[in-house]
Amino acid sequence: MDAFVASRLPAATTSSTPQHAATAATHLRQSPLRQGGTASLTAGVLLALCSARGAGRPNHPRAARRRAEKVVRHMCHRNCHGGEHLSPERKRELEAICEKIATPGKGITATDEGPGTIGDRFEKVGVENTEEHRRIYRQMLYETPGINNYLSAAILDPETMYQKDDEGVPFPEALEKRGIIPGVKPHLKVYELPGTKDTVMQGLDSLAVRCREYKAAGAKFAKWRSPLQISRFGPTKMAIEANMNDLARYALICQDEGLVPIVEPDIVMKGDHDLETAVAVNVEVQATLYKAMLDHGVYMEGTILKTNLVNPGLSCDHDYSVEEIAVANMMVLRRVMPTAIRGVNFLSGGQSLEGAAARLNALNKVKKRLGRMPWTHGWGRTDRSPWDWKVLRSYTWDPVLFIIPGECVCNIWKYCIHLGVFGQVFI
Ligand code: 13P
Repeated sequence: MDAFVASRLPAATTSSTPQHAATAATHLRQSPLRQGGTASLTAGVLLALCSARGAGRPNHPRAARRRAEKVVRHMCHRNCHGGEHLSPERKRELEAICEKIATPGKGITATDEGPGTIGDRFEKVGVENTEEHRRIYRQMLYETPGINNYLSAAILDPETMYQKDDEGVPFPEALEKRGIIPGVKPHLKVYELPGTKDTVMQGLDSLAVRCREYKAAGAKFAKWRSPLQISRFGPTKMAIEANMNDLARYALICQDEGLVPIVEPDIVMKGDHDLETAVAVNVEVQATLYKAMLDHGVYMEGTILKTNLVNPGLSCDHDYSVEEIAVANMMVLRRVMPTAIRGVNFLSGGQSLEGAAARLNALNKVKKRLGRMPWTHGWGRTDRSPWDWKVLRSYTWDPVLFIIPGECVCNIWKYCIHLGVFGQVFI
């Protein structure tokens, strides 16, 4: 820190002793201006900087003041700088990607289940979990006829980023050709903090390097999920802050590497909490997230929010109407969400396809004053809910057929269209 200050002091000042610079730094640290972010000076800071210039040198007070102000401005701008380190081209690039992801009438498909998670699902339908089967499965999804009418973007697992379709075209490129923006899940696994029930998502170390590699492989955005759970004791303040700071740091790194960060705070549906508690916790979590993003200097206009729908816990003993849930969601977003963020894509959190679509539909109906901001889907499990095959089985062929490219998923989407899901979701 002291070295940071010293390196930014004007040339004459840096020629003074390190102790002088250290004194100036101490004053800067202690100054309330560091918190307040204003560029005016207290006498203490000025004095420190003037004296740091070196004893015995002529020092015009006005020049010293200007130099000191410059230093303080620099220090203050370290917080909430809104991506001032990014070039105008980079900002435009990020904004253009956000704009496309937030295309009205379209949503994101989350096809980023890792090899482990997808294995559980394959097992249910008796399909061996091999890399080739995973490749065929992804290809089947991406080649669904008409899919680009509903999807603006797809989130890929890192493995899929480097796989190719039958024609030898890498999936990111194949998606782009269909007008679907490819992105990647760069985080690793959830980790339980020892001695607590709190979790954090791993993967910040070496994130910049991985982002660079994914960008070179065709990714345009990234997604980072930070799960939290409502319980009698949680989520704790510490868990919220740790997770939201991680999301902010991830976003900062992504933008620096040219990827749009999709920030995903996910308050999971497990629990018996009511809707009112869900509203309070969501407000706290999202408010902490935006504060952390602003503090970190994230360029808010170059980000997308992907969050849980505000819902009562799965074991809540009270039934809420879709309208009540929609109002609760709108309340949370209106209270805390910066309108600089271009779009919201709600994750499904494992809700049924019909339930999630009905809630999203109601939410779109009650939103009035947030202008053209699209609130749409960013589903993984839900748009492939026939994974549990309960409904689809009566609807289409034998579930094992899903491994035949273009067949079963085509039916899944047909099923969605038949249900009128897309008509409901996009208003
Ligand atoms: P869902 O399966 O909950 O929709 O998840 C989407 C997602 O991207 C989770 O990170």
